[in-house]
Amino acid sequence: MYEAVLVIGKAAECGFGVLQSNLRLHCDWFLSFHRMLDRDQLMRAVQLTRRSQTYRMQLQALSAIMQFIRPTRYLEVGAFEGRSALLFSSLSAIQELVYPVHVTSVDSWQGGDEHQQERLAMGPIEATFDQVIQVCRSWLPVESRFEKLKSLSTAALADLRERNGYYDLILIDAGHKAKDVLQDLVYAWPLLKPRGVMILDDYTWVPKHEVGDRLLHAPKLGIDAFCSCFSDEITILSNLPLLQLYLLKESPLGKHYQAIGLEMPDLHPLFEGVGLVD
Ligand SMILES: C[S@@+](CC[C@H](N)C(=O)[O-])C[C@H]1O[C@@H](n2cnc3c(N)ncnc32)[C@H](O)[C@@H]1O
Repeated sequence: MYEAVLVIGKAAECGFGVLQSNLRLHCDWFLSFHRMLDRDQLMRAVQLTRRSQTYRMQLQALSAIMQFIRPTRYLEVGAFEGRSALLFSSLSAIQELVYPVHVTSVDSWQGGDEHQQERLAMGPIEATFDQVIQVCRSWLPVESRFEKLKSLSTAALADLRERNGYYDLILIDAGHKAKDVLQDLVYAWPLLKPRGVMILDDYTWVPKHEVGDRLLHAPKLGIDAFCSCFSDEITILSNLPLLQLYLLKESPLGKHYQAIGLEMPDLHPLFEGVGLVD
């Protein structure tokens, strides 16, 4: 009898020990994370990138989407200086429960037509991207994975094809010609999981530089063509700034589009005064 009590006691002690060490592990993870995401780090990362008047709107929309689907696997097609990865990472980092993320960034770092037109040197842009990602990495759990694929988008997306239904969130922001956007969308759509969200950047953008047919050189025609053909798989997320378009992937709905409205949340106070939303 005494022995039995002893065995039960040992087992309980052991279980408690495991529980204790698990708790400690989780607390350490949580605390170490919160120590790392501070205002200075965020400001330093933001200052690496160019100023943008669209930061606030993008941040608000992304924040609404991230509260809605809580994504951890993020694919961006068109990464440039890392601004979109920065927004995703900082918003992930301020969520109450921080999970490891997997960020895949695709870019040729050759610049789009608009960058080639202004003869923008892409070497420093890529170097900035690398620096920004270093900082983002420090905000998130160590198990997080940041993956850089330097390649033309169609080649990179074809290489990723076995990640069918893998990503929670995908941003399409590479080549801005209508046909480039259409191709990227067709390649990327299978990689998005059901109830995942696709963000289509620059829906209403048109080039400022001289081009033959402005509409063929802007994303909208490509996006509209894709949305028409895939309308039985799309719910449009509305009430968000129309600079971008936001699609929720559904299994075939058997009907034409539907829409749901998202609430625009207040921005987390950490974002005020760091150059993002001033
Ligand atoms: C508008 S920028 C991306 C901006 C970025 N998402 C952000 O929020 O800062 C477009 C990027 O797409 C890249 N790009 C353009 N066409 C591409 C293509 N066909 N394949 C891969 N990358 C491309 C350019 O090099 C450029 O860095």
